[in-house]
Amino acid sequence: MHASRRQFFKTLPAAAGFYSGARFPLHAADRPKKDMIVRSARPLDLEMPLDGFSTWITPVERFFVRSHMYMPKVDRSTWRLKIEGEVENPLTLSLDDLKKFPRAEVVSVLECAGNGRSFYEPGIIGMQWTHGAVGNGRWAGVRLGDLLKKAGMKASAKEVLFNGADVPIGTMPDFVRTAPVRKALDPDTLLAYEMNGEPLPEAHGFPLRAVVPGWAGDSWVKWLTNIEVRDKEFDGFFMKTAYRYPVRPVAPGAAVDPANLAPLEAIRPKSVIASPEAGAGVGQGVPVTIQGAAWAGSAPVARVEVSADSGRTWQAARLGSERAKYAWRLFEHTWTPPGPGSYVLMSRTTDARGGTQPFAQDWNPSGYQWNVVHQVRVEVGNVALAPPAPPNPPRPEYPEKVRTACIGCHESDIIEGQRLTRGQWDREVTKMTGWGAKVAPADRDELLDFLSRHFGTRR
Ligand code: HEC
Repeated sequence: MHASRRQFFKTLPAAAGFYSGARFPLHAADRPKKDMIVRSARPLDLEMPLDGFSTWITPVERFFVRSHMYMPKVDRSTWRLKIEGEVENPLTLSLDDLKKFPRAEVVSVLECAGNGRSFYEPGIIGMQWTHGAVGNGRWAGVRLGDLLKKAGMKASAKEVLFNGADVPIGTMPDFVRTAPVRKALDPDTLLAYEMNGEPLPEAHGFPLRAVVPGWAGDSWVKWLTNIEVRDKEFDGFFMKTAYRYPVRPVAPGAAVDPANLAPLEAIRPKSVIASPEAGAGVGQGVPVTIQGAAWAGSAPVARVEVSADSGRTWQAARLGSERAKYAWRLFEHTWTPPGPGSYVLMSRTTDARGGTQPFAQDWNPSGYQWNVVHQVRVEVGNVALAPPAPPNPPRPEYPEKVRTACIGCHESDIIEGQRLTRGQWDREVTKMTGWGAKVAPADRDELLDFLSRHFGTRR
């Protein structure tokens, strides 16, 4: 199921357009991205394909991008970081001021909270990521704790709010996130001005971003301009409504009382097989290297196991020598197929605290934190390959009313990846009209008919 769904997504129009720097130029300061899957061209959302899981440090050109809004243009000479709120001495710092603080470095996985969302059943609104909204970067900058100490954080401080230079589109809420003081003061929590040894690229938050190792990407705010130390909980949309997870397992598709949702924090143990890829044909009796990457939240990876018989037996994989507390670990295992047939390969990681990956996921309303054991079916010998995936459904002709209402702030790509019921589309259109989309009441039915017919649960 898992593998065939992945193949299915490969055929979607939204996934079909591989990123080419020429078509979507970034700022001159950013080298073009290479071979990325475009989930949304504007705002920019790019996914790393599976082959990225075979490199320890993910090059900037292959690092996924997630943006809620358009990329802001930041002028280095006038840019300042303000630190205010519950502090004795509010600070206003230039990039040069920041570089006078001791430099700190951490190698850490950055994973989008919604990575793997496309695998949930029933489908969930949001970026339809498969595996690649994750990367392993080398981040350098200043410890947030050093800045808070310099500013004289008061005893009343409870949480630290991050805001960036990106500005909301239409009437959408601003992307503002907070971290509790305990995480802000962690010596590994940085404000980074470098990624992989070069100035932070624009798409990754130039000139400064939060680096919150072990925690999901929603806390890693980009293009930072303001830090506010607070003595009470911030209740903006991206804290109170988005990026929350049920405190106990819920039924798939169920509405969850907000009182039973808590903010996301640590990412989960996870591993991905980069090769062989699903559907690969493998020679009989020829050794195959099963290779991938494994990571966990704030506990390091303790071991990775691989199965080549649908999970009946497991063998310890060899782990790569490159390691760091919050980094991913490359793994490989040599497998010699015992005979012709169709085999399901799996990988499973266990972290130093004993946390491991499940075979079935608890559902959650926003589709966060997918970490089900990765399954890859390969065919050995002269086995008839599975029938090819059906051809791409033709891109529908957009009625004028839909085009006018829905294309402009973004392209149609962000819509075309979704597979939602009419009820879910109804709620999404309400969200979009709340953000400024203009839909006349008389046109609403036609709009919902179109969306649920072409981007519904059945394709
Ligand atoms: C006023 C600008 C605006 C208009 C008009 C608009 N959208 Fe959006 N939409 C956005 C923004 C901004 C995002 C990206 C939000 C994010 O990534 O957090 C978005 C995201 C989406 C998504 C991805 C899921 C999500 O909620 O983030 C879908 C689907 C979508 N829009 C559908 C539509 C449809 C259907 C219409 C027409 C009724 C529409 N949009 C009109 C601004 C707009």
